[in-house]
Amino acid sequence: MEKIRELTVDLGERSYPIFIGEGLLQAPRLLEPFIHGQQVLVVTNETIAPLYLHNVIEGLSAYQVESIILPDGEIYKNLDTLNKIFDTLLTKKHNRTTTLIALGGGVIGDMTGFAAACYQRGVHFIQMPTTLLAQVDSSVGGKTAVNHPMGKNMIGAFYQPQCVIADTTTLRTLDDRQLRAGLAEVIKYGLIADTEFFSWLEDNIQLLLERDSTALAYAIERSCENKARVVSKDEREGGIRAILNLGHTFGHAIETFQSYGDWLHGEAIAAGMVMAAELSHLMGWVSEEDVCRTKKLFTLCDLPIAAPKTMSSEKFLTLMSVDKKVLDGSLRLVLLKSIGCAVVTADFDQNLLVKVLLRSE
Ligand code: NAD
Ligand code: GLY
Repeated sequence: MEKIRELTVDLGERSYPIFIGEGLLQAPRLLEPFIHGQQVLVVTNETIAPLYLHNVIEGLSAYQVESIILPDGEIYKNLDTLNKIFDTLLTKKHNRTTTLIALGGGVIGDMTGFAAACYQRGVHFIQMPTTLLAQVDSSVGGKTAVNHPMGKNMIGAFYQPQCVIADTTTLRTLDDRQLRAGLAEVIKYGLIADTEFFSWLEDNIQLLLERDSTALAYAIERSCENKARVVSKDEREGGIRAILNLGHTFGHAIETFQSYGDWLHGEAIAAGMVMAAELSHLMGWVSEEDVCRTKKLFTLCDLPIAAPKTMSSEKFLTLMSVDKKVLDGSLRLVLLKSIGCAVVTADFDQNLLVKVLLRSE
């Protein structure tokens, strides 16, 4: 059995641990210090509930535990579904000391976190991520949100969990496409801030695709270390945290264009990261060789390296104009100076951006 890896997201009084290891859903002693009252609501969905809900509930016999099983899918990440969580909390008379547990991928994590931020002006919550993407990214850092038909994650709050418990055995039931989508976010950390990790990924990508448990645990830990370091410096994205959004301005535009139902988030941002790398190259920053290395790694993961052909450059520009990084009317993009060095800049050539967007038409 793998050891439990523990990291800290260092945010002063809002600091919290991330535990990574096997069988952690059935480790109530890990959970208990982070449940401060007597009531718990486990929020999950119809796919995850039959697999893991009983494991979590069994360990919580000392509490008043309720659960809510939401429909599965990004298309349900909206205010209507959020309201169902509030309905359950109110019907079951949960008070301000209740703790919400998000058992699932990024969709469940983002919605549960936002529900916790809002319910009675804020109650505690715990992240129990069950997808690779959620274990390396969405469960860490306190971004919570739902989508609006006009923009991805447009309604939300920064709200940190009490802890993150990433049980790596849950990844065994994840389908291959979801695993690869999670790898897109793992590769992101190499691209934005960790050259050594990018090289490690080039050497070990096959092991990750085969779900080698040691390689996966290492990649999750290293990804969380990178994310925790950035979040600790800039919790509310006043500056440096925006580098975690490499490829996301392009990717969110793709997801909104598809009404959140076609490509997975990880797939959309994989294409987006390649587009960001291509623009960075046209700007004279990243070498052609590094763009090729980036494309090769995503291709080995069977991830898209270009936007959908049906998406015009005009559509891209319209959707990108509502990105959360737009400041005083100027679009800012995360671009690469080199592999391992990302920058956030409004200082890019618009004609070169259009050139990159036209490549997908
Ligand atoms: P997801 O939550 O939709 O999960 C993917 C699919 O896998 C779902 O069908 C889910 O039911 C299923 N699933 C989950 N765990 C499983 C398991 N162990 N076994 C079998 N099936 C399982 O998608 P995701 O990729 O985890 O997350 C994407 C979401 O995360 C997006 O909404 C994105 O905006 C958000 N996100 C948020 C942040 C953040 O910082 N908050 C960062 C990145 C992404
Ligand atoms: N996933 C981007 C962030 O957490 O800032």
